[in-house]
Amino acid sequence: MLFLQNISVVQFKNYEQQQWLFKQRITAVCGPNGSGKTNLLDAIYYLCFTKSYFSRQDTQIVQQGKSGLRVDGNFLKEEKQHELVCIIRENNRKEFWANGEEYKKFSEHIGKFPCVMIAPDDVGLITGNSEERRKFIDTILSQCNTDYLNWLIDYNKILQQRNSLLKAAAEHNRMDESLLDTLDEQLSEKGQLIFTARKQFTEELIPAANRYYQSIAENEDGIEMIYDSQLLNDTLLNLLQVNRQRDLYLQRTGCGIHKDDMEITMNGYAFKNLASQGQRKSLLFALKLAEFEILKKQKGFTPVLLLDDVFEKLDAGRMHNLLHKVCMEENGQVFITDTHAERMESQLKAIGADYGLIKLL
Ligand SMILES: Nc1ncnc2c1ncn2[C@@H]1O[C@H](COP(=O)(O)OP(=O)(O)OP(=O)(O)O)[C@@H](O)[C@H]1O
Ligand SMILES: [Mg+2]
Repeated sequence: MLFLQNISVVQFKNYEQQQWLFKQRITAVCGPNGSGKTNLLDAIYYLCFTKSYFSRQDTQIVQQGKSGLRVDGNFLKEEKQHELVCIIRENNRKEFWANGEEYKKFSEHIGKFPCVMIAPDDVGLITGNSEERRKFIDTILSQCNTDYLNWLIDYNKILQQRNSLLKAAAEHNRMDESLLDTLDEQLSEKGQLIFTARKQFTEELIPAANRYYQSIAENEDGIEMIYDSQLLNDTLLNLLQVNRQRDLYLQRTGCGIHKDDMEITMNGYAFKNLASQGQRKSLLFALKLAEFEILKKQKGFTPVLLLDDVFEKLDAGRMHNLLHKVCMEENGQVFITDTHAERMESQLKAIGADYGLIKLL
C-alpha cells in the first residue's frame, strides 16, 4: 500500500506556500478554473518522479518572479514512513532527499513511489507523434526496471556522440571509422536491451489495453495496436553498418530504437485520423489503466492515481464505471479534480466512496 499523508509546497507554480493533509484514500480537489487543481496533482507527481508531468523544465515550475522552490511530502509505503524533500536552491541547484539522504542520481528515485497521471492533454499520446508513445512506454518501464532508465540515458548520450561525429565528418570531409565502429557497438548494445524490454512490455500492455477498451466502450471498434521497431527485422549493429553511408550523408543516425513507435489502427486505418473524440478518450483511458495494472502487478502494491479533469471528458455512465473501477475495485490512493464540487460529490457518493474534499478558491 502506498499512501501520501501530506504534502507542502513553497513557490511551486501558483502556490506561494501551502500544505495539505490527506486522511482518506480518495481525495477530491475542487475549485474554479485556474485555482491550482492541476498544480496540486503536479506537485504530487513531482515527488514521485523528481519532475513535472506537464513541463520539461523546472524553470516553469518555480513561481514566476521567484527563485527556488521546495516540495515536501510523507509517504506511507508498506507500513514504513518515507520523507521526501525536493529543493531547488536560489542558484538553481536541485536536490532530492529521501529519509534524510540526498540522491546522487535522480534516476535512483524513479519507481520507488509509482504513480499514474491521467490528464486531458494526454490524447497527444494517441494523436501526437511517435515520441509521445515512446515516452509513455519509457516512463512505465523506467518505474519497473531501474536498469532501463540507465540504458536509455546511455543510449541517448551515445546517439548524440554518434550524430556529432557524423556532423564533424561532413564538415572536415574525413571520418574516424574506428571511433564510429566503437560507437556503433555501444549504441547497439544499449539499443538491443531497450528493444527487448519494450517488446516484452508491449506484449503485456497491448492485450491489457484492449481489454480495458472493450470494458469502457463495450466493443472493440476494430482497434489494433502493434509495437513497431526496425529491430524486429534485424540487429541494430547490422542496421547501423548497412546504413552507414546514408547516415554520413544525412549527418544523423537513421536507425535505432529512437525510431520505435506503437502503431494504432482502426479497421486498418490510422486511428488518429479516423477515431472520434470519444474513441480517443476511451483508448487513452484504456492505455493508462493498463499502465496502472502493470505497475501494480510489478510493484506488488497499488500506485497512486491522479485523475485530472476526467469528468469533463466522459459521459455520466462511463464516468460511473471508471470511478467504480479505480476507487472501489482497487485499494490505492486516488486524487480527482473537478471544477464542480457538487458533481464530484454526487458521483463519489453514488459509488459509495469514503472521500476527503479539498476546496480551492
Ligand atoms: N510558474 C508559475 N508561477 C505562477 N503561477 C503559475 C505558474 N505556473 C502556473 N501558474 C498559474 O497557476 C494557476 C493554476 O493553474 P492550474 O492549472 O493548477 O489550475 P486548475 O485549477 O487546474 O484550472 P482548470 O480548471 O482550468 O484546469 C494558473 O492561473 C496559472 O497561470
Ligand atoms: Mg486543471
